[in-house]
Amino acid sequence: MNIDDIRKICVTGAGQMGAQIAIQGALHGYRVSLHDIEAEQLERAISCNRKHLMRRVEKGRMTESEVQEVLERVDTTSDLGEACADADFVVEAVVERLDVKRRVFAELDEMAPRHAILATNSSYLGNSRIADVTSRPDKVVNMHFFYPPLVMKLVEVVRGDETSDETVAVTMELARRIGKQPVRVNRELPGFLVNRILRAITNEAYFLLENGVASFEDIDKACELGLNHPLGPFKLGDFSGLDIGYNARKERYEETGDPADRPAPSLARRVERGDLGRKTGRGFYDYSTNPPTPTED
Ligand SMILES: NC(=O)c1ccc[n+]([C@@H]2O[C@H](COP(=O)([O-])OP(=O)(O)OC[C@H]3O[C@@H](n4cnc5c(N)ncnc54)[C@H](O)[C@@H]3O)[C@@H](O)[C@H]2O)c1
Repeated sequence: MNIDDIRKICVTGAGQMGAQIAIQGALHGYRVSLHDIEAEQLERAISCNRKHLMRRVEKGRMTESEVQEVLERVDTTSDLGEACADADFVVEAVVERLDVKRRVFAELDEMAPRHAILATNSSYLGNSRIADVTSRPDKVVNMHFFYPPLVMKLVEVVRGDETSDETVAVTMELARRIGKQPVRVNRELPGFLVNRILRAITNEAYFLLENGVASFEDIDKACELGLNHPLGPFKLGDFSGLDIGYNARKERYEETGDPADRPAPSLARRVERGDLGRKTGRGFYDYSTNPPTPTED
């Protein structure tokens, strides 16, 4: 299979990630079919995408008729067979549950054309844990976008035990053709590249905070001014949602038993009282003030 053989992309799972991955493909000329089991998720996906694109119109980066053309390239359906029947490349972006992903891949294997590549956008699950339910493990790969996919440039392409060179090469090239910059990950390790590095930084940041070495606002300032990170680790946690970081750490701690992975008390306390970061208006910082101010423990 050659990159030019890819004419239609199917995206299954129209949540935070899938909706924007679909529109990113359409923005770069691909026909896309977007699938979800929930019809209202599909409606929400289209209306959110329209809003995102209309912001580009306001900024003079697109015209209204271009927005219309892009939206017309995306078909939505809650019938997976219909969605993937003539797809050359499928991106799976359903919930992060191994059993659900395995079920979806078994169905995709039956319903999608034999030549189609089946990619998972999973953040943690390596494709080898999914590929064995298909009859084409050489065509299964991780294509890991970052949130929000309309903005974030990076895509990690992860080779599994049986992923072919061709599948990796076509996936890397597809990422480029839809305006992203891919990196190749040659081995499956949980968290791939970015989330592993982020975890190491965040673990150290919590270690320093919990041991009274510095305040969280000074740790953020140190990363921003000393490492040129746009957001320090605590501001980033507030941005992504503290519950997401908390749950990921809890799961990881249950797996590894490593005290460095345990959710830090300063994080657990905030999550327990419902201070989940920007989405609730309070996390490590209070967003009702401008600029945001550090909160008490
Ligand atoms: N949110 C992030 O920051 C982020 C970043 C990179 C990768 N990811 C990965 O992307 C995937 C999706 O994450 P998300 O944040 O978009 O989740 P989400 O909860 O916003 O969306 C998941 C969607 O999948 C749908 N769904 C559930 N079961 C389905 C099925 N059997 N068939 C079709 N659709 C189904 C749900 O209705 C929902 O619309 C996960 O694997 C996650 O690890 C997430």
